[in-house]
Amino acid sequence: MNFKVISQAGNLKGKRVLLRVDFNVPLHGDELLDDSRITSIIPTLKYLERAGVNQVTLVSHLGRPQGREVKGLSLRPVAKSLSKLIKRPVKFLTLRQALASGMNGEPIRLLENIRFEPEEDTNDRNLARLLAQLGDIFVNDAFSVCHHAGASTVAVTRYLPSYAGLFLQSEVRALEKIKHHSSAPLVLIIGGSKVADKLPVIQKLLPRAQKILVGGLVANTFLAAQKKPMGKSGFSKELVSMAAKILKSASRKIILPQDVVVDIVSTKKKEITVVETARVKSNQRISDLGAKTINEYAAEIKKAKTILWAGTLGIAEEPVYAHASLALGRLVSGMALGRVFALVGGGDTVGFFHQHKLWVDYFSLAGGASLKFLAGERLPGLEALKTGWFSRR
Ligand code: 3PG
Repeated sequence: MNFKVISQAGNLKGKRVLLRVDFNVPLHGDELLDDSRITSIIPTLKYLERAGVNQVTLVSHLGRPQGREVKGLSLRPVAKSLSKLIKRPVKFLTLRQALASGMNGEPIRLLENIRFEPEEDTNDRNLARLLAQLGDIFVNDAFSVCHHAGASTVAVTRYLPSYAGLFLQSEVRALEKIKHHSSAPLVLIIGGSKVADKLPVIQKLLPRAQKILVGGLVANTFLAAQKKPMGKSGFSKELVSMAAKILKSASRKIILPQDVVVDIVSTKKKEITVVETARVKSNQRISDLGAKTINEYAAEIKKAKTILWAGTLGIAEEPVYAHASLALGRLVSGMALGRVFALVGGGDTVGFFHQHKLWVDYFSLAGGASLKFLAGERLPGLEALKTGWFSRR
């Protein structure tokens, strides 16, 4: 690993640590649906405790509120879950409250969603300077957010000695191994909603992949690029032309849905049917893959030696639309741990696999970041750990 790691931080006794974590967890109201992202950073917290640090201030985002305070995206319920898991009090507070409290206060604190600050997404130095006041060192344990440059992942490293936490290191170590030792044929299964993160990675991985099977908003954006009727389905309008370009260069590698499950959301009673993708009506919304598509994807999956899967294939948080993810998840899980090497990436997708007790060779809690890493792209959050404060001393 060519960046500084926490064991190189020297004597931490009495120090304050600013710890970037990824608590972008699935919540239903205040209820936590999967705690993998919280439990993943406990080894780093324990390490810091054993090293005798005085205070740890955790910073995270939740969702993409784009600089606005969004009630449903508060991290308050997550502070409670963390406290329960580590059996220690966790003080929940805003950045302003944390700055005002100085050195005083509780040994473990969690700040409110850092993306409520408009300057987080712009990687702003002023916000980074404020955050830096909360620690003597910075530890990044959020590999899954390293593909975006934010004030709390990149700019902050200009102002504090910065190190990788234990969980970030373990993700990088595992992905390095996979990058260099995966065998062909490689099949990618790409779904979910973050189309802007995924299309460039699809483009980059095209030469190495045998087939790319798509679902979710990624598939919808490709279907829109083929000028298929989209009805009320979600897709990324801005990325339709990029999707069209990708299809033009590699249409045989990318398998698109032939049939889909649609519903009519406007009526109180959901009317769910399966239609060919050319026959989606103006009042219908694509919500899952149809049976023909599932069979076609299954046939491709069976030929794979390596499978990388990021993003569920329908609106899988609603059980009625989880059919494709579940059917193909069961297939992949049955082939993993022996016949193929299968990696599943991303908080929601890993949560889905855990919820259904499906196992694969490696679960990465990073979706976009792990795909970009495997595609050989540089991740700003990792680069900052190499070039941040240390090179400016
Ligand atoms: C994720 O869920 O993939 C990470 O938390 C990163 O979220 P982001 O794509 O909104 O930066």
